[in-house]
Amino acid sequence: MKVGIDLIHFATADFYLGLDTFAAEKGTELDKYTIGIGQEKMSIAPPDEDVVSLAAKATAPILEQIDRNQISAVMFATETGVDQSKSAGVFLHGLLKLSKHCRVIELKHACYSGAAGIQMATAMVKANPKEKILVIAADIAKYDVDTSGEATQGCGAVAMLITENPRVIEIEPGSGYFTDDVMDFWRPNHRTTALVDGKYSAKVYLNSLKQTWDHFTEQTGRTFDGIDYFCYHIPFTKMAEKAHKTLVKKVGAKLDKAKFDTQTLPGQIYNRIVGNSYSASLFISFISLLDNVKDDLQGKRVSFFSYGSGCVAEFFTGIMQANYQSVLMAESHQHQIAKRQALSYQQYLDFYHNTDDEQENTVYANHNSGPFRLAAIEGYKRIYENTDEME
Ligand code: HMG
Repeated sequence: MKVGIDLIHFATADFYLGLDTFAAEKGTELDKYTIGIGQEKMSIAPPDEDVVSLAAKATAPILEQIDRNQISAVMFATETGVDQSKSAGVFLHGLLKLSKHCRVIELKHACYSGAAGIQMATAMVKANPKEKILVIAADIAKYDVDTSGEATQGCGAVAMLITENPRVIEIEPGSGYFTDDVMDFWRPNHRTTALVDGKYSAKVYLNSLKQTWDHFTEQTGRTFDGIDYFCYHIPFTKMAEKAHKTLVKKVGAKLDKAKFDTQTLPGQIYNRIVGNSYSASLFISFISLLDNVKDDLQGKRVSFFSYGSGCVAEFFTGIMQANYQSVLMAESHQHQIAKRQALSYQQYLDFYHNTDDEQENTVYANHNSGPFRLAAIEGYKRIYENTDEME
């Protein structure tokens, strides 16, 4: 039985901070960002945007194409949870009017949990082919101002429908996985921003890639030459380039630059202008590949390397399905990216500091163009609205 991603769509915020503006503010050479880390823009969420509103925007176009009552489970992967107890997915379940006969759970491990959601959902569909499961990965990457991580912020959400006979990609059985208890990046409960040992985190990422690759080849017998396109977790695009170089060296592959670029660059185009979106970032890379490769990908094998600091990693693959082009939502992705408004550094700081989540009562000014937004907090309860329903 084939199981995998039947539909996939992403959402990002309505605003961005250009790394040109950022470099001018910090008195740094722009090349450090555009060449050194390979980033141009960071999507910035206004105060009335959180992972629930982003995830609802990512999911709604999928629900327009299917019977939403058939969704049997929602797995919401995030490390930007909005409540310590209630899962973000239940707010989304209410906003999107999903069936009451649906299970909802939040999954957490840094940037890794979206991959965990895919593996779990795939197994559930194999056990019961009637299941139609939404795996959602959504995060807002936020570091302290004036730290090395600040240039690598961003935000985004990806919604994926996992079913049998998927129209986009079959997720192949077998994968390589790796866990190591390290402190490269973490966010204690009282903090809204992550702490990171940046250089160390890059080393642990690359070691995890080598470990998962060895395990992947042992488990599946698949080879480097059998993979056509490589999607990596992308905190910044230079990291994906370093990852691919590491893998090429490890397997001793002889690739010219053109081949190297073909295997990895299409999967970096969106990430370069969205920034890090933690758990969503690997799947935005996959969408970037789908939307930007003009050749027919039918039958091609795509690999996914998921890395979550702390750390858990997994390497798995999928096979592109016939006629997948007919269900892509490239126009929606490109429209969202193109319509974003540029922020000055001061406007970015105003958004950055204006997070009233700890207040008992707050009404949020309207920045986010919807259709889903965080409208208020009343008695510590989050109130979301669907602006389309209010017209
Ligand atoms: P930094 O110290 O600001 O930058 O931090 P740098 O001085 O190391 O420069 C970066 C690169 O730019 C270097 O290249 C420089 O040589 C180059 P590299 O040595 O790395 O190849 N450079 C220039 N190039 C051209 N022209 C110039 C120029 N100047 C410098 N003028 C760092 C960089 C990545 C550490 C920082 O951005 C950071 O702390 N980021 C956050 C952590 C991170 O993203 N880690 C990635 C791996 S861990 C991960 O992916 C998980 C994560 O997503 C979280 C999760 O799992 O939830 C983060």
